[in-house]
Amino acid sequence: MIDTLNQRHAMPGVVQFVEGRGGLPKAVVSNPHAGAEVYLHGATVTAFQPRGQAPVLWLSPQALFQPGKAIRGGIPVCWPWFGPHPADPSKPQHGFVRTMEWSFVHAGCLPDERTELRLHLQDTTDTRAMWPHAFRLELRVLVGRSLEVTLTTHNTSNHEALVSAALHSYFAVSDIHTVQIDGLDGRDYIDLTAGRIIRRHAGRAVIDQEVDRIYIGTEDACLVRDIAGKRILQVGKSGSRSTVIWNPWSAKAAKLADFPDDGFHTMVCVETANAGPDTRQIKPGASHALTQTIEVMEAAV
Ligand code: BG6
Repeated sequence: MIDTLNQRHAMPGVVQFVEGRGGLPKAVVSNPHAGAEVYLHGATVTAFQPRGQAPVLWLSPQALFQPGKAIRGGIPVCWPWFGPHPADPSKPQHGFVRTMEWSFVHAGCLPDERTELRLHLQDTTDTRAMWPHAFRLELRVLVGRSLEVTLTTHNTSNHEALVSAALHSYFAVSDIHTVQIDGLDGRDYIDLTAGRIIRRHAGRAVIDQEVDRIYIGTEDACLVRDIAGKRILQVGKSGSRSTVIWNPWSAKAAKLADFPDDGFHTMVCVETANAGPDTRQIKPGASHALTQTIEVMEAAV
């Protein structure tokens, strides 16, 4: 498999395929702007590091790289539902594509030396048993000074499909106690730690306990101010009306086998999503693109 991927898609010095953890294939990108890694398992981006910067994405040191398991960290893809299935709790949390093996279809170089990767996935008998629609998904990853990830849903069935989705990005921070998140002032959120009660947010968001929130009707970028790390991450988006903020804090972290007990100190999820009331209706033959753009701002904190 690795040999075939390299024969078809490798770009000397820029993109190569190697056996990653658990023997799973991954694409390794290195260009003048940044380095990045993408597993075909779940089409999960597991690393992004602009030149001269510390890693931007958090990856759990206890992450499992196994068929049937989602990778804990990086940017897992939640689709076609977010969180538990709305009607059937026996179906997998966050949908089923984050644990499927995607096909790698294209690697290319843009004139400005950014690197483009494309991965595809389409419906199978197994997916139709969980979700009764034909579909084609594409994940396009553009690696430059910023990382741009676009998940495009093509509804190839002959009926309308309801789709919730998230680019479930985990960010590395120096100390969660000093993190502030801008961009959510005045927005309503569904508090998943308090029975889905809706609350209005004011000011910057800080994380000083378990936080699990779907901010609805949010189309603007967020700034993650990592004061201790002396940097700001900008998380921009399009085609997305929800922003999910998640940090499990100590008690929940202790219950997650693939999450270190103290891991919550150095991560925060700021997810580009369409969830809850922002679920999308996609007409037969239509497509929808969800884009997340991650950038380290040069400005001081
Ligand atoms: C977040 C959800 O997006 O993902 C949380 O809002 C959930 O409720 C978290 O706990 C992690 O989910 P999972 O399935 O990867 O453990």
